[in-house]
Amino acid sequence: MRAVNCDCKVLENIRLNDTICMLKAEWTDQEHAPKAGQFYMLRCWRQDEAPLLSRPISVHEWDEAANTVTFLYEVRGEGTQKIAALKAGELLNLTGPAGNGWPVDQLLGKKVALVGGGIGTAPLYQLAKELAAKGEKPSYFAGFRDEPYRMEAFEPFCACTALATDSGRFGYHGLVTELFDAKEYDVICCCGPTPMMKAVTKLALEAGTEILVSLENKMACGIGACLGCTCHTKKSGAISVCKQGPVLKGEDVYG
Ligand code: FES
Repeated sequence: MRAVNCDCKVLENIRLNDTICMLKAEWTDQEHAPKAGQFYMLRCWRQDEAPLLSRPISVHEWDEAANTVTFLYEVRGEGTQKIAALKAGELLNLTGPAGNGWPVDQLLGKKVALVGGGIGTAPLYQLAKELAAKGEKPSYFAGFRDEPYRMEAFEPFCACTALATDSGRFGYHGLVTELFDAKEYDVICCCGPTPMMKAVTKLALEAGTEILVSLENKMACGIGACLGCTCHTKKSGAISVCKQGPVLKGEDVYG
């Protein structure tokens, strides 16, 4: 499906903590409805204004009935600072939905674990929702440096949720990889920092469990035109993460 570009009305833009924000915007183009794991390129500044590039942000939630798309994002630099400053009623330029997304239908009937780290938990929420809507309840394991966010939002859509933090102030004191036994699952869907995704891929492959990872490479165009997001895979050689990904088989990227 071709990505489309439009100016969308911001309905809500709230701060969950010092660096994490959640923005809800109108998306009325049902023909181009986003799927779990896809992303948009976000921009709220002129083409001749800095920063040069739009910001790729994954879909946290798509509400078909309300025609809204929600982004959970970390404020990291100039672009995300500008997005975080948007107020309800202002316009946000969206290009998308882009990328392949999670293969939800292929997960049905399987025991699925969602494993996320930090802001990498964002694209797992819509996946949990879509699986639950089809009668499947995945297990959710999340790791954060310190204070977690959106844990409770996953609960209605998951068979269980578990939390690990580096600080030990919340949940289990340790790594998210210590929360689950990969052997107990048919498939693990993972998104987070690269060392975490590598570690989860290793555990999954040792256990003979299917592993899907969602990459967060830097992106320029977001539509497969600039080669700015190239990743070398075992099976297909160099691919564009924005077009053939961001969801890829773990063994193809890290195996
Ligand atoms: Fe341009 Fe992927 S960001 S090809």
